[in-house]
Amino acid sequence: MTSVLPAAVLAPAGTPLTDRVAEAVRELDGSPTYVYDLAHLDAHVTAIRAALGSVELIHAVKANPDPGLLRVIARHVDGLEVASGGELAHVLQVAPDIPLAFGGPGKTDTELTAALNARVDRFHVESLNELRRLDVLARDLGTRARVLLRVNLPTGGAPGVLTMGGRPSPFGMDPAEADACAGALESLPGIDFVGVHAHLASGLDPEPCAAQGVAIHRWAVDFACRHGLPLAEVNIGGGMNVDYLRPERVFDWADYARQLPVLPGGPVVRIEPGRAVSAYSGWYATEVLDVKQSHGEWFAICAGGTHHLRTPAAKGHDQPLAVLPVDRWDRPWARSGTDNPVTFVGQLCTPKDVLARSVRASRVRVGDKVVFALAGAYAQNISHVEFLMHDRPAVTHVGGR
Ligand SMILES: Cc1ncc(COP(=O)(O)O)c(C=O)c1O
Repeated sequence: MTSVLPAAVLAPAGTPLTDRVAEAVRELDGSPTYVYDLAHLDAHVTAIRAALGSVELIHAVKANPDPGLLRVIARHVDGLEVASGGELAHVLQVAPDIPLAFGGPGKTDTELTAALNARVDRFHVESLNELRRLDVLARDLGTRARVLLRVNLPTGGAPGVLTMGGRPSPFGMDPAEADACAGALESLPGIDFVGVHAHLASGLDPEPCAAQGVAIHRWAVDFACRHGLPLAEVNIGGGMNVDYLRPERVFDWADYARQLPVLPGGPVVRIEPGRAVSAYSGWYATEVLDVKQSHGEWFAICAGGTHHLRTPAAKGHDQPLAVLPVDRWDRPWARSGTDNPVTFVGQLCTPKDVLARSVRASRVRVGDKVVFALAGAYAQNISHVEFLMHDRPAVTHVGGR
């Protein structure tokens, strides 16, 4: 899917870059631009889908709501998960025929009503209070809401980078509150119980991710048995790892799926990944505006910065990058030393505006293009674009529709 880097591209080993993206970046005028490769995404999601067998796949829109990406993803998945009224309205426009699940904490009555009026076919309910409100709203509209109870279970010490469950958190409900929900169901005629949902951690490799899924599944089966509830579905969440430091180590979906408890006659098992679906198909391209040495260290100051690509600041990593050297160049004073590590920063007036530290990218010159990989998830859409009132990044798509 990703090619070997073209000869003129200087980058640390392992930075993925498709020929299509490299070509598109060379044509850009240097203004910060997100480049999404739709053919790359199509191949990636096709492979995920094939690896999963009968495990159902819904995609968490929060990873990236870009319409081009969502249309490609929608061709391969069993549904999309939205987590706000805004995402709901957006997806209804972009992919009007795809089944939807509505999750997330703090859903308002307005959002729940909009979801009931739309064709949302699963609500991931976060508390007894939300369940009761949903019941009233559904009955007012003369309909029923299909519900999965989102639970906060022990994670079994899984080494997730970002843990949302297994400890005090605003996400989902404790087992005791799930018991209270089960006990209340009989008096809630606006609610249809479908199953159990849990999303406990993000950043997991296949083995701990599957082990977590097995534990959620086991808990859900036991919960349904205890309460005499028909368990149609267990959603074991997302959280599949994207390794930003070793981008070539792509999550092994087949290995993961092999370990999941999919049994004939058992509940449907669903997963809900975001990051590991779209991260690899987005690149943030920019240009070197200045190069300087400060107290012995080289810096390349790029157009844009972490207000466009917040991922490295948010996760505390160095974003993998490639440098596409400028063709004609006659400014010997505006380049880094050869083979010295260079730190790539943006235009913001804060020392936190660092995209990648101490990169051995050979020589870097003013005017070189810089392409940051793995920028297709939690990148553009989590960035604080208003800070300093710079222009927003442009967006372009390559590789079809
Ligand atoms: C409820 C829920 N589902 C799925 C996801 C997707 O997680 P990831 O992007 O790590 O796969 C998230 C992320 O925060 C989430 O909160």
